[in-house]
Parts: sequence; structure tokens; C-alpha cells
Amino acid sequence: MERRKISILGSTGSIGTQALEVIEKLQDKFEIIALSAGKNIELLKTQIQKFKPKYVCIGDETFKEKTLYGAKVLYGADGLNTICSDKENDIILVAVSGKIGLKPTLTAIENGIDIALANKETLVMAGDIVMHKAKEKGVKIIPVDSEHCAIHQCIKNREDVDKLIITASGGPFLRKSIQDMQSATVEQALSHPRWNMGKKITIDSATLMNKGLEVIEAHHLFAMNYENIEVVIHPQSIVHSAIEYKDGSIIAQLGIPSMHIPIQYAICYPQRFEGIKSKSFSFSDIAHLDFEKPDYKKFPTLELAYNAGKTGGSSTVCLNAANEEAVLAFLDGKIKLFDIYKITSQIFEKHIKTAYPSIDEIFEIDKETRIKTQELIRNY
Ligand SMILES: NC(=O)c1ccc[n+]([C@@H]2O[C@H](COP(=O)([O-])OP(=O)(O)OC[C@H]3O[C@@H](n4cnc5c(N)ncnc54)[C@H](OP(=O)(O)O)[C@@H]3O)[C@@H](O)[C@H]2O)c1
Repeated sequence: MERRKISILGSTGSIGTQALEVIEKLQDKFEIIALSAGKNIELLKTQIQKFKPKYVCIGDETFKEKTLYGAKVLYGADGLNTICSDKENDIILVAVSGKIGLKPTLTAIENGIDIALANKETLVMAGDIVMHKAKEKGVKIIPVDSEHCAIHQCIKNREDVDKLIITASGGPFLRKSIQDMQSATVEQALSHPRWNMGKKITIDSATLMNKGLEVIEAHHLFAMNYENIEVVIHPQSIVHSAIEYKDGSIIAQLGIPSMHIPIQYAICYPQRFEGIKSKSFSFSDIAHLDFEKPDYKKFPTLELAYNAGKTGGSSTVCLNAANEEAVLAFLDGKIKLFDIYKITSQIFEKHIKTAYPSIDEIFEIDKETRIKTQELIRNY
């Protein structure tokens, strides 16, 4: 069997490094075309020596080398686009964080290259455009997020599915009071009980905004109405998500929490290999599994995300940009954890929706929203 040719955007991040661990295990199945880093050039150097990509892309354009250990060096957003225009790729794993993921994803789709999608912002900002283009070009978008990966594994015929049930661990503040959340330190908010992830997504998991963004992603990936997407708190993170068929049957995907498994599923799809095998999971060893409704008072960002999704158009662009700026301000110690919601909702309430924004309009709205949010943060 020919090896599958893959590029990884964001190879130095949490998803990117775990993807390389999967590929190391499945060396005879993959050939790496390109890797990309933002600023972590030291880690990228190690990855080049080990995986020998044809070229790499570096976000930090102050670095001036033309080659690194035999790999050609590209830079910035243009470099990511060049990688995604290379039709030698069979699949591209988009694992950069933030809006930088959107344009290269569209370029890859335009070039008929399948996508393993970790980058949430792509669908939250431009889900309609991305899914429409992928359909037009016959490109597969395989989700990497564990919840969407679970749903992808459960669905046989989309037409037969009535409802999606997305599980959430509840994050570090599930059993804490609103007062505890108000006085939470950055360190407390970053100590997620189940998942080890990048900082932005970890803070979003603490406020449940991450679950809200996942609801928006699920709406686009599986063409499901928001009314038929339910979020359920499940602290053990064993049930990764479920679907309900029209006859009431519920199918769920279960396993010990590990991002290696959904990453491996996405980059190998439609095949399955042992690769990095999940730890064995025994029903009889697990005493019980808990499920409960989310507390919308404690986690108001979840409702805000539902509202943005239902409002549609540019609303989710605004939500994403305002939230990201607020999260960065929290990480910088400028605001409190609960202010993330207050700031995001204030910006969101004033947003005048564009019903069908183009990609250029999306980036313009993203930019304007960030400026307004930064202004608001300065006055906090
Ligand atoms: N981590 C998870 O378990 C998880 C699960 C589901 C979905 N996701 C989604 O996957 C994406 C990545 O998450 P993550 O947790 O892996 O994030 P992360 O650990 O922060 O990694 C982000 C990656 O993007 C690169 N990057 C950041 N800004 C860049 C820029 N301006 N130009 C080029 N590269 C840039 C980083 O490079 P440097 O580090 O070299 O600067 C790094 O390789 C996010 O959208 C997240 O929501 C993550």
C-alpha cells in the first residue's frame, strides 16, 4: 500500500505533537510533506530531523533561514497557503490555533485535498462557506475534536439521525461555586481535570465556551439544527458523544480520554489501524458514569454560543473574536475569569449581523470586533 502523504499545520502544538506520535507509530503508512510551527523553532528543528519533511512553514517571520536540515523554509500565512496548494498532499491536518487556520483550509479544499480538522475557528468563523466548498469539491472534512470524531464514528446515514448529544467534562469549576469562579487564578483555570491542551482551549473549557464552539462546529459538520444538539455534562469523559436515531435508538462512542485516538481516526480515515491503541476500558471496572444538565447560570457562555449559532451569519465570527480577545486578556492577568463572559456578551449584543458574509468580510468583522473588544478591556 502506498503511504498516505500528509502535512501538519501546527506540528509544534498539543494536537500537532500528538499527531506526530501517531505517525511515528504508523511510519509505514504515512509520508510527511510539510510541517509548520508558529514560534517554537527548536521543537520544529527536532521534528525536521526525525520526520524529514520536504518543507516547513514558520509563523515568526524574523527567522531568516532559507532551509533547515534540508527542508525548505516558508513563512507566515503565505507559507501555509503554499503547503495547502501542494496537490502531492493526500490529507492536511489543520492543527494551528486561531483564525490563521481558515484560509489554508479553504486553499486545501480548493485543491481537492482532504482535511483532518482540529482548528475550531475554521467552522465557527466560516462554517457555511467551508462546508459548501468541501461538498462542491468532493473533499472530506474529518473532525479531530473528540466529540465530533465520536459522532462521525456513530453516524451511518445522516438522514436517519434526529439529534446529536455532545458530552462535556464540565472543566475544573464543575463542582465549584460561582464565587470560586469569580476569584479563580489563571493557574486554577488552566488545570483541566481530564485533557491536556493548549492554553486558549483550556480556558474555553473552564468557561464552557469550548462546548459552545463545539455546538457550532457540530451544526456545520453534521448539518443539524441547533435545537437538536444537546450538551450533557459527563465528568468522567468516557462517553465522547452520542447520536439519537429517529427510532429513538442512541449510539455512543466510548473510550479512555486520549486525543491520540481521534487524531489517528481522522488521519487514517476510512481505514483503522492499531497504531497508538487506547488503554483497555472495562465496563465492569468503571463503577458508574454520571450525566447531568449544564448549569447555564454558572456557564452563561454556553447559552451565548447557542444564541450566536442560531442568529447565524457573522454572529459567530463576532463571538469567536470577542471571546478570544477576552481569553487572552484573562491569561495576561488583565481581567477576571467571569469578565470573559461579560465582555463577550457586551460586544455580541451590539453586533449588527451580516447575513451572508464573504471571506473578506469575515476577516474584516473579525478585525473590527477585536479592536472593539480590546477597547472595552482597556476600560475594565
Ligand atoms: N488540544 C486539544 O486537545 C484540542 C482538541 C480539540 C480541538 N483543538 C483545536 O485544535 C487547535 C489547536 O489546538 P492546540 O491545543 O493544539 O493549540 P496549541 O497547543 O496552542 O498549538 C497551536 C499550534 O499553532 C501554531 N500557531 C499558533 N499561532 C500561529 C501563527 N500565527 N502562525 C502559525 N502557527 C501558529 C503553534 O505554533 P508554536 O507553538 O510553534 O508557536 C502550534 O503549533 C485549536 O483550534 C483547538 O481549538 C484542540
